[in-house]
Amino acid sequence: MGTFILEMENITKKFSGVTVLDNVEFRLKKGEVHVLIGENGAGKSTLMKILTGIYQKDKGRMRLAEEDGSMQTIEFHSPKDALDKGISMVFQEFNLMENMTIAENICIGAEPVNKAGILDRKAMNRHAEKYMKMAGLNVSPGKTVSSLTVAQKQCVEIAKCLSHHARILILDEPTSSLSEKEVANLFHLIEDLKKQGVSIVYISHRMEEIFKLGDRITVFRDGQYIDTLNVKDTSEKELVKLIIGREFDPSETYGQGRISGEMILEGKDLQIRKFKEKVNFQLYKGEILGIFGLVGAGRTELARILFGIDKTKEGNLYKNGKRLKISCPQDAIENGIGMVPEDRKQLGLITKMSIRDNLALAKLRDMPWVLKSHEREEKLTEQYGRLLSIVYQSSAQKAERLSGGNQQKVAIAKWLAMNLDVLILDEPTRGVDVGAKAEIYEIMRELTEKGMSIIMISSDLPEILRVSSRVLVMHDGGIRLNEKTENLDQEKIMHAAIS
Ligand SMILES: Nc1ncnc2c1ncn2[C@@H]1O[C@H](COP(=O)(O)OP(=O)(O)OP(=O)(O)O)[C@@H](O)[C@H]1O
Ligand SMILES: [Mg+2]
Repeated sequence: MGTFILEMENITKKFSGVTVLDNVEFRLKKGEVHVLIGENGAGKSTLMKILTGIYQKDKGRMRLAEEDGSMQTIEFHSPKDALDKGISMVFQEFNLMENMTIAENICIGAEPVNKAGILDRKAMNRHAEKYMKMAGLNVSPGKTVSSLTVAQKQCVEIAKCLSHHARILILDEPTSSLSEKEVANLFHLIEDLKKQGVSIVYISHRMEEIFKLGDRITVFRDGQYIDTLNVKDTSEKELVKLIIGREFDPSETYGQGRISGEMILEGKDLQIRKFKEKVNFQLYKGEILGIFGLVGAGRTELARILFGIDKTKEGNLYKNGKRLKISCPQDAIENGIGMVPEDRKQLGLITKMSIRDNLALAKLRDMPWVLKSHEREEKLTEQYGRLLSIVYQSSAQKAERLSGGNQQKVAIAKWLAMNLDVLILDEPTRGVDVGAKAEIYEIMRELTEKGMSIIMISSDLPEILRVSSRVLVMHDGGIRLNEKTENLDQEKIMHAAIS
């Protein structure tokens, strides 16, 4: 494996005068999995959007290998130009027509017609099925996309790329909402594609994936090209240093030993709607309670009950020994309970609003109107922006224009701006880079030192062990394990999660 299929050189891109890619390079070999890594906002997605014709570069050169191996300079003016050259991308945010069928989505723009010029639905479904099979999707091609799970939608995206005879397939954080089994399936698929000579660009923040899957890694930092390495010649420690530009201890723990005797929240016989079991748990002052479980174990459902989104069938919730009546999120907030949800787009952030307004919404709600001012909001944005190292251009920037990880930080900052004593974080570091992860953990530690109690739901086992004071493991809507973190390891937790 040695020949290059793609060379990007001296690529520069500015958005409204701000340079987000500065003279970067990227070289892809035939049949390799090339990991593109860097902190949130480093410019990874932007470079790939240039490669797929969505954005135009301001400067630089792109060359693509022809059949005979010679390099040909390419200029893309639209995504179609890139598709025609066999370059396809599965986006961080999918790009499917939800109300159309799988087959319609796969064949969009190239629908087969019969002799009379009428859409040949049978041929379309057959065509779609061929690529669905390659992508490992075993459902009817006539199914509507909106009825599919996230993993299935991703397979549709991949099938769509394959149907365009992708030579280069770009996956932008493809595993961020997949279960463990679905991740394994995706990895098999990637290995298969590799064998067929497809080159994969793989964007991810998850270290273990990079070492399992990647052949080479290119690191970006702050819009700059840093280095390209062979995966087998590097270590996690070296990589992290390149990514964040400083030494960093990936084994530091945050919540261990932080267990007081003072119970703050207690759930007695709570019952999650679709399950039979009852959940009993205690949350102590100043601790980080990690809740682990596989997808579908009932973790998010439990959080939704605590935050008043869903109702428990039975049982009660007590805070400082007093029974709580929580029937909506407003009740929860009034009782000092906040939540950063799993899907920041739905509940965490108003992406059409500016960063400043998102933060102000939480903090300034209770302030007398005379005290509200633009200046105050500006200060607040600056304070939390700095605290969480949010990379943004101006406080008036719409949240949707932030990189994925930075959106998550704003969603967290929004709640930190309120005075709460219980904060529920559902997958708080999904899509967040290593450096920012450590910053978020650090903030969680600081908050607990001030007496706040945190419930952290996570599917990331190493994260659960690093961050929690105590761990609850859920399965089928019930608690399977409740133990101090120092007595646990990955195996014990996993064992409880599947039994
Ligand atoms: N359409 C746009 N308009 C203005 N600024 C943008 C736009 N798209 C991206 N940016 C900015 O460009 C920078 C790079 O963003 P990009 O999405 O490429 O980062 P990333 O490396 O993919 O980050 P993440 O890991 O969080 O997904 C960020 O500062 C972002 O705010
Ligand atoms: Mg991105």
